[in-house]
Amino acid sequence: MERLHIFSPATVANVSCGFDAMGFALQQLGDEMTFQKTSDKGEVVITKIEGAKLPFETERNAAGFVAQKMLEDAKADFGLEIEIIKKYKPGSGLGSSAASSAGSAYAVNQFLDGKFSQLELVKYGMLGEEVACGAQIADNVSAALYGGFVLIRSYDPLEIVSIPTPEDLFVTVLHPQIELKTEDGRNVLPKKVPLKDAVKQWSNVGGLISGLYTSDYELIGRSLEDIIVEPARKLFIPHFDAVKEAAVASGAVGAGISGSGPSIFALSKGKEQAQKTAHFMDEVYKGKGIEYNIYVSSIGNQGTRII
Ligand code: HSE
Repeated sequence: MERLHIFSPATVANVSCGFDAMGFALQQLGDEMTFQKTSDKGEVVITKIEGAKLPFETERNAAGFVAQKMLEDAKADFGLEIEIIKKYKPGSGLGSSAASSAGSAYAVNQFLDGKFSQLELVKYGMLGEEVACGAQIADNVSAALYGGFVLIRSYDPLEIVSIPTPEDLFVTVLHPQIELKTEDGRNVLPKKVPLKDAVKQWSNVGGLISGLYTSDYELIGRSLEDIIVEPARKLFIPHFDAVKEAAVASGAVGAGISGSGPSIFALSKGKEQAQKTAHFMDEVYKGKGIEYNIYVSSIGNQGTRII
C-alpha cells in the first residue's frame, strides 16, 4: 500500500458525569487525512494542513508525533507524508487533536500491517494528546478509534470498554467559534472533591452506563449531571445555562459541556427531536454576536476508518 485516505471522527468526551472516563464519536464531523508512503526511513513530514492553524513540525504536531513514534518503535523501513484536512476548529471541545492523533495511529498501523492492537493505538493516540494539550487523556482518542460510546475503566493498566448505543440516540452540538484550550480548562478544576459529590458523580456514571445498555432514555437524561467539573468550566462558555435549559425545554434528554468546552452537547431520542433541540439552542445564540455552528448527528458507531 502506498497511499491511504482516512476519516477520524469528532468526539464528545466526559458526557457530563464521566470526566476523563467516557466519550462517544460523532457520525460525520471529523478530520480527513491522507498518508503517502515514502522511502525516507522513519521520516514523517506534514505536507498540508487545511482548516486550522497547527504546527507543521513533526514533533509539535499531534498526528506527526504519533506517526513518528510508531514508525520508530516498529523500526519501519519507510517514511510517511501526511495531509490533514480539519473540518472543525481546534479548541472546540470536540476532540480535534484526538481526531488527528487517532487518525494517525490508525493509518500508520495499516501501513504496518496491523502490528499494533487497538489498545496500543489508543496509547499512541494519547501521546498525541500530550503534545497537543499537555496530558495523556484517553476519552476522545478511544472514542474516535473505537466509535460509539466508550468507558475508560482504568488508565493504569489501560482498559477501554465499548458500551452499546441505543439505536435512536442522537446528539446536537452547538459549537461557539471561540477557542478554549483543554489545558486551561483543566487548570480550573477542583483539586479535591467532597465525598458526597463523588458519590453523586459515580452514581450518575453508573446510571448513564445502565441507561445506554437498556435504552432507557429517561435514565440517560437523569444521569447527565456533572456537579464537579461543569460548575467550574461553564463560566468560560457564554450563555451555557441558557443553552442547556433550552435544550432540555425542547425535549432533549439532557445536555452538558462537550469535553473541556466551549461546545455544548445535548442527547435526544430520535433525529427529529435532535433537530428541534438544535432549533432551540440556535434561538439562544442567535444575534448574540458570537459565531457558532450547530451539528445534529447520530452516534458514530464506526470510528476511525478508511474512506
Ligand atoms: N476529558 C478531557 C477534559 C477531555 O475534560 O479535560 C479533553 O478534551
